[in-house]
Amino acid sequence: MTLQIKKCAAVIGYPLLHTLSPKLHTHWLDQYKIDGAYEAWPIDPVNLKDSVLRLRDKGFVGLNVTVPHKETVMALCDSLSADAQKIGAVNTILFHSSGVIEGHNHDAYGFITHALSSVPDLDLSCVMVLGAGGAARAVLYALKQAGGGEVKITNRTLDRAENLADEFGARVVEWETKENYLSDVTLLINTTSAGMAGQMNLDIDIANLPLNAVVYDIVYKPLLTPLLRAAQAKNLRIITGLGMLIHQAAPAFKQFFGVMPVVNNNELERLLLS
Ligand code: ATR
Repeated sequence: MTLQIKKCAAVIGYPLLHTLSPKLHTHWLDQYKIDGAYEAWPIDPVNLKDSVLRLRDKGFVGLNVTVPHKETVMALCDSLSADAQKIGAVNTILFHSSGVIEGHNHDAYGFITHALSSVPDLDLSCVMVLGAGGAARAVLYALKQAGGGEVKITNRTLDRAENLADEFGARVVEWETKENYLSDVTLLINTTSAGMAGQMNLDIDIANLPLNAVVYDIVYKPLLTPLLRAAQAKNLRIITGLGMLIHQAAPAFKQFFGVMPVVNNNELERLLLS
């Protein structure tokens, strides 16, 4: 085992194109004058176990984990945090000097911390979640932890919404009729990939949303998605998606390098978009 003095962490994923994590963590390493490094390692799913163990044995302090490894990497963890267990995915792993691998998930924390720092008086009494994939799981878990009110969930593929509704306690709304259930929604959240650059647009008409509603899109490329532009055109308050990535990175940075970074969202958004 070759132990490194300098603390080194990385993000793993595949194909791991355009990851923003190295820029963010390197900025904080510079800001806090920490002798560390943060790399990006594209890892083919067939090599996941060998590659993760190799990074551990090289002395890495931990890894951020992104698509498509968030669920499969759980099998390599010796222990899982409560959040990782409930969300059913890991986005941060820590390597202990004993060789033990610990799995964590900061996506729910990132989602709710960004939401509440963007809109401090955010009303969670009636939330509609669009989508039922991995991101929706973290969002539903965060909402449950935050102790909000009613949650409606809708998804193009209904049975995925039904499964999540059973697990997290939400009301299922059919995708085709979702617009009929918007009139009392205080927070509308898009967790689907629709609206992302290169993907199909999100099929929703938000005319029925009340004027006090907030619209949160976790898609951050583009930062102002068509959904958020439609919300702005209605003079609704919006929450953009990049802050969730930024806020989930902060506790991981603390676990890797020992300092909880102060998050200045606007400054970091500018950095990541430059
Ligand atoms: P993630 O882990 O990023 O959430 P995922 O598990 O693949 O990714 O889930 C993607 C979500 O986006 C799903 O809810 C998916 O809907 P289906 O379950 O019907 O596939 C949703 N999605 C993707 N493209 C969509 C589109 N064009 N319109 C509506 N929903 C879409």
